[in-house]
Amino acid sequence: MNYIKKYTLIVLTLIESTQQLHGSFNVTVLGTGYVGLVSGTCLAQIGHNVICADIDQDKINRISQGEIPIYETDLSDLVTQNMKKNRLHFSSNIPESIEKSDIIMIAVNTPSKENGQADLAALESAIASIAKHINNYKLIVIKSTVPIGTSNQIKILLDSLEITKSSFDLISNPEFLREGIALYDCLHPDRIVIGSTNKKATKIIKKLYKNLPEKTPIVVTDPTTSEAIKYASNTFLALKISFMNELANLCDATGAHASTIAYAMGLDKRISPEFLKPGPGFGGSCFPKDSFALVHMAKEHNVPFLTVQAALQANDFQKTVPLTKLKSLIGNLAGKKIAILGLAFKSNTDDVRYSPAIAIICALQQEGATIQTYDPQAMANMKKLYPQISYCSDSYEALTGVHAAIFLTDWSEFSALDLKKAGKLMFAKTVVDCRNILTPIDLIENGFEYQTIGNGGTKNNFFSYYFCPDLISRNVYR
Ligand code: UGA
Repeated sequence: MNYIKKYTLIVLTLIESTQQLHGSFNVTVLGTGYVGLVSGTCLAQIGHNVICADIDQDKINRISQGEIPIYETDLSDLVTQNMKKNRLHFSSNIPESIEKSDIIMIAVNTPSKENGQADLAALESAIASIAKHINNYKLIVIKSTVPIGTSNQIKILLDSLEITKSSFDLISNPEFLREGIALYDCLHPDRIVIGSTNKKATKIIKKLYKNLPEKTPIVVTDPTTSEAIKYASNTFLALKISFMNELANLCDATGAHASTIAYAMGLDKRISPEFLKPGPGFGGSCFPKDSFALVHMAKEHNVPFLTVQAALQANDFQKTVPLTKLKSLIGNLAGKKIAILGLAFKSNTDDVRYSPAIAIICALQQEGATIQTYDPQAMANMKKLYPQISYCSDSYEALTGVHAAIFLTDWSEFSALDLKKAGKLMFAKTVVDCRNILTPIDLIENGFEYQTIGNGGTKNNFFSYYFCPDLISRNVYR
């Protein structure tokens, strides 16, 4: 992460020095959620004049005063820098923001309805505002993740309204950024996907990204395929993780080692080593939401999509695994004090949406356990869901007096814990390491009883104990 951070900053400086060479656009990004805020800031950084607009006046006021509503590496600094350079503005005046722009990027939320269908209310309202306030040619870019076919439907709707057909083009341009390293992903995309059937629109959007520091593969396709690429990418990754989680569970039943398997599988270029880390189940706003939405779309079209359905089912099961392992170590949980380290759905974010921690806290409470938690960024968000549990100021405080600790995310400060110190603070030295971040030898040598996901535990870990140093030096455990 430090490497990525340093690299990002160097690249940002390079971009600064080259951006004067190319023309800039006036861009309005509608929606200042995670995607809108990051995309708007990156576009400002590569030289465009950007207004990030949102109907939430309070949110806009707070961001304008430097209060960034999400935790994202470097985002706060970059927002401030670009505001000072007068390239990044925040506004709740939607009509004015639309009128002032050449390009309108829609990045509003498309949350899941109860049946898995995407809720397009915010998108429809954004389109209605654009239709009302369009004053000259605009390129409308749909950045939000929308059901396959949405761009075409919106185009038909806009065409039917009383606006000159030549005064807009509408394209799809999905995002592929990961929370926690979103700025890096935004500035170094693996690919740019453009769903456009219009030459002028394609030329404009390509020019918008021209100042990116590296030559990026660009896929130009029709809007429907572009929308499908987004779902395909996210759900395929979700599937890959669920596969790895099920394999890890089988490893635990048989004594095989999931990390070594993942490493060996990943050496095959057709598989790639990414997204093969087993864990407590995937979360976040995207994989669960997009998997539900894809299954829903498939049902609507009478097309079976059993693989993604299975990935979701496997994910539900996976969230129960940490507690099963905990019980295998300490038995009945009633009256026991348990530490949970990591509350967000992954490290380097404060986002708790669909976090495995939610299900685990709920189950621990039902079993009568007392909970002490710590997360470097996500405690304020989790407090809104679970105000009664105990939130500590650091990992050591959370570990004090507990019968066991569950590690749910791989923050570097968790893997760097002093296990000797931690062991002295705990009532019993028991750990469930759901991200394989602690070194088995350190745990064994400090007298811990532990379980991992896919890499054994104290009782069946002779392999790790005797062979791990060699594997570590060969980078097998990464
Ligand atoms: C995901 C995609 O990776 C992005 O490309 C996409 O743009 C984004 O969704 C979106 O649609 O907006 P994100 O949800 O931020 O990004 O998080 P990921 O890093 O992809 O992780 C998703 C979940 O998978 C997390 O719960 C994480 O812990 C889990 N995971 C990931 C594993 O359990 N094992 C792995 O090896 C990798």
